[in-house]
Amino acid sequence: MQDPAFLESIFQWLESSSLAIFIRQSHWLYPAVEIIHIAGFALLVGAAVLFDLRLLGFSRKLPVKDCIGHLIFWARISLIAVIPSGLLLFIVEATSLASNSAFQIKLILIAAAGLNAAIFHRFTLRSVDEWNTQAPAPPAARIAGLLSILFWFGVITCGRLIAYV
Ligand code: HEM
Repeated sequence: MQDPAFLESIFQWLESSSLAIFIRQSHWLYPAVEIIHIAGFALLVGAAVLFDLRLLGFSRKLPVKDCIGHLIFWARISLIAVIPSGLLLFIVEATSLASNSAFQIKLILIAAAGLNAAIFHRFTLRSVDEWNTQAPAPPAARIAGLLSILFWFGVITCGRLIAYV
């Protein structure tokens, strides 16, 4: 386990960096970064949840493989906006955010959502030709879809609660 004092010194270094000071002193930069963060996760969570609803049996005429080609493609692209903007928001108040329980739970839920998606794409999706259209998705796929919706809802809830904790 990493020495807490070492982590604390990393967070203090990030928070006193010229980039963090520049963002903190700008009237418009922090809200601009937050707008990119919000736009990014709106695309990410929107695309992910629409795909999850397909796994749960909605719009069965839509081939699952085509949904992946469109929705999961844009969900992955959105990470180009979500992660850098999130890191920039983090460095501005790194020491207080690092001990913010809503922020900590948010990162755990992001990791859980990522693991759930990785297991789905690596294993459950192998049999997709059997349930690509019309047929109900197997229980493992429906559970993955339901968990994904719960994890992303949890991430958004924790993200919003950061400012209140
Ligand atoms: C990957 C998916 C992510 C989603 C869905 C997400 C979602 C959110 C939401 C809903 C908010 C609240 C926005 C508001 O109401 O103003 C937020 C704020 C924030 N996010 Fe994320 N986020 C994600 C990733 C990250 C990452 C990877 C980081 C940094 C490591 C991060 C850092 C932050 C910070 C620091 C805030 C607080 C901004 C504030 O309250 O001023 N986020 N995020």
